[in-house]
This record gives sequence, C-alpha cells and structure tokens, in this order.
Amino acid sequence: MRKFTDVTDIGSLRQAVDEAFEIKRDRFAHTDLGKNHTLLMIFFNSSLRTRLSTQKAAMNLGMNVIVLDVNQGAWKLETERGVIMDGDKAEHLLEAIPVMGSYCDIIGVRAFAGLKDRDEDYGERVISQFIRHSGRPVFSMEAATRHPLQSFADLITIEEFNTVERPKVVLTWAPHPKALPQAVPNSFAEWMNAADYDFVITHPHGYELAPEFVGNATVEYDQRRAFEGAHFIYAKNWSAYNAPDYGKVLNTDRSWMVDEEKMRLTDNAFFMHCLPVRRNMIVSDAVIESERSLVIPQAANREISAQVVLKRMLESL
Ligand code: CP
Repeated sequence: MRKFTDVTDIGSLRQAVDEAFEIKRDRFAHTDLGKNHTLLMIFFNSSLRTRLSTQKAAMNLGMNVIVLDVNQGAWKLETERGVIMDGDKAEHLLEAIPVMGSYCDIIGVRAFAGLKDRDEDYGERVISQFIRHSGRPVFSMEAATRHPLQSFADLITIEEFNTVERPKVVLTWAPHPKALPQAVPNSFAEWMNAADYDFVITHPHGYELAPEFVGNATVEYDQRRAFEGAHFIYAKNWSAYNAPDYGKVLNTDRSWMVDEEKMRLTDNAFFMHCLPVRRNMIVSDAVIESERSLVIPQAANREISAQVVLKRMLESL
C-alpha cells in the first residue's frame, strides 16, 4: 500500500477487518517488520488519539517514530505555490516535503480543512503535495475531507459488537459551539456505504453533506424517526457544506443532543463518537457513560486500524 487517504485504498473491507482481528489477537506478531524503518508523523493540527494510537501501532511493528508538530518549533510553512513569501512563513512545503521524506520511510499527515474556501479544502492540497513530492508512502491522520483511520476503526468496532445480519447504522448531527470540518462524517459515510449496512444520515436542514459522500444513504431530517430501530448511533457535529454557508455554524440547536429518551427509540443501540466529545452538547452524560457506549473500545481500535495500514505499507517498501 503506497497511499491511505480514502476507503478505496484499503481494498476488500472483509479482508481488512479480518486482518485487524488477527492483529488484535496478537499485536506483536510482526515486530521485525518495521525494524530499521522510520515513521514520520506530521501534525498541522492538534491530536490525542491519532498521535498516541499511531505511534503505538508503529512501535508494535518495531518501527522508529519521529513526530513533528508543524506549529510548535518548526518553521511556518507556506502551502500555496506562486506566493511572494514576504510574510511570516519562512519555508515552502515544496522544499520541506522532500526534506522530510529523506529522513523516513513512511509519512502520516494531519492537516484539517480551513473551512474558508470549499474548493481549496476539497482539493486536499496539503496531503496531495505530500503524496506527490515526498517519494514515500503517505497516509492520512485526518485530512480536509476524510479521516480514514478513524472510519476504519469505527468499522472494526461495529463488526466486533454487531449481532444482526445487516445493522441499521445512524449518523446523527449534534450541536457544537464551534465550526468543525466535515471530514469525520464524510469518511464515516464513505465507509458505511462501502460496508453496505442499512445506513441513515440525520441532520437539520442546511447541514447536507457533499453528495459524493452521502451516496446511497437514506437522509432523514427527523432525528427521532431516524433513530427508530437503529443498532448503532454515531454522533458527530459538522459545519455547513453547501455554499454560501460553507464552514459556518448554522445553529446549535440543543434539541439534537443524543440523550436517553432518544436512545430508547432504537433497538437497544450502541452509542459511538470518534472523540473528543463535548458532553451535554453532543451527548448526555448518561448516554456516554452507559454500558451501550462504545467510545472507549472505538478509540482503542485506532491502534489496530493504524497497525493494519502501517503493516501493509511496510510490506510494500
Ligand atoms: N478521533 C481523533 O482523531 O482524535 P484526535 O483528534 O484526538 O486524534
């Protein structure tokens, strides 16, 4: 595997999940694979889970790991070509990328959407430049439009806990005080559609996701109706995708919070969220602390999804 930025890069989902379960049974079975190989993790944005789980996955494979926080200690990087660099950005990505590539064997990149210019965000300029100019296999640790390591971990978690033939999985928008990217819901939708679950997306009017991510999902504007008979509830906030409101918070309607009363409409569903989560905005204390909450096993599976991806990249070197 030379690139991991979307669901198509992983190939067969069945095989990927089986490989994940195999790694979960013995995560130290391939400790020699990464010997004398270096992972460089580059963060343009903050992280807790991605940083720790990916680093742990690399260590399980015997890799060396270097972590760079671009905004803390590195030169400020210009990403636009053609810009006269007379401002505060001392280095261009076009030099920085091949330099970074010369110190490592595999690169992970986190670079969120700016939420100002939809074409720029959906063009995925930062991670695309790493793929083009680093000369190394590159994987996304959350890019502007997708978070595939998270979605893969979500799929592993659903496959672990599911008890029915074709589960009803509901992605629900929930309120948040700040504008958040669409990367997690886009990616989750992409992976759920590929998994061919009974997949429903529910959100207030105005929060429609890009059609290429919605795919064949059912869109239901009535959250309570969407929850009926669900086996998995996946809560997430996102800002508006459609112009002219791209990147804006249109409302923070607290009636969309996931609470016990709504969970009672489901078929005893599990609750999921990628974390970090704002309690009593997105989800009530009672739901996230309930025995049906999967947020901790879901986060733990980030180590497993990262390890599958790193293992496949190491095998391709
Ligand atoms: N879910 C997730 O990617 O968490 P972090 O932003 O903490 O890495």
